[in-house]
Amino acid sequence: MTPKTANDIRKMEEAGRLAAEALAYTGKFVKAGITTDELDKIANDFILSKDAISACIGYHGYPKAICTSINEVICHGVPGKRILKAGDIINIDITVIKNGFHGDTSSMFPVGEISERAKALMECAYGAREAGIEAAIAGNCTGDIGFAVDKYVTRKGFFAVREIGGHGIGRIFHEDPFVPSFGKKGKGPKLVKFGTITVEPMVNETGAPIRELEIPGSEITEFVTSDGKWSAQYEHTILITDGKPQILTQI
Ligand code: MF3
Ligand code: CO
Ligand code: CO
Repeated sequence: MTPKTANDIRKMEEAGRLAAEALAYTGKFVKAGITTDELDKIANDFILSKDAISACIGYHGYPKAICTSINEVICHGVPGKRILKAGDIINIDITVIKNGFHGDTSSMFPVGEISERAKALMECAYGAREAGIEAAIAGNCTGDIGFAVDKYVTRKGFFAVREIGGHGIGRIFHEDPFVPSFGKKGKGPKLVKFGTITVEPMVNETGAPIRELEIPGSEITEFVTSDGKWSAQYEHTILITDGKPQILTQI
């Protein structure tokens, strides 16, 4: 993990802000009856209008501008003809490239009225991201983030996904280190001041195995729960400092 220069940080701030704006904008359109393809177009048009591009289109063959992961889909849900219905929960994950740098963020959005259990699952994923971010201090390790996330999730009675997680980010979309949602304090790569990573825990209702689905024409795979139970996730891109990290993907 190498520190960003002051110039790089300024560009990461810009990319991060834009990703956050695109996510907030797109989220306003979430309602019963809309398709995920429509959300994809809304997001992509917004990103292009800001002199940026989606990092996802063509990334290892990925076909769409954003990821839309509904209910039992853990991540990398591909926008298509699926129509949102009341009671669904959807994660929208947006990554932009602006001035050569990536900003990567995701949030959950409820569709109409949702169940108390779905609310609790979303709140758990939100809190898990907060807990992970709190542990992301220079000198700590990726294991400190994972430990904090897993502890938070376990205490709420849910399950943190181990196979997938956060990543270093900058000019490259996914780079070292891997940022796990489990781990041991003081283990894993060290977090370096002015390094940039994502924290993006995925939280499942149950500990059932996860399943990987092919995305035609792509090396990226979609992840779903094997038992059909639901999953939630929130993601921020952050800048590591000596104290509280700076959240780059906020408006
Ligand atoms: N945005 C996802 C992440 O948080 C990656 C999506 S890659 C794609 O790392 F190709 F599926 F878009
Ligand atoms: Co990410
Ligand atoms: Co993302």
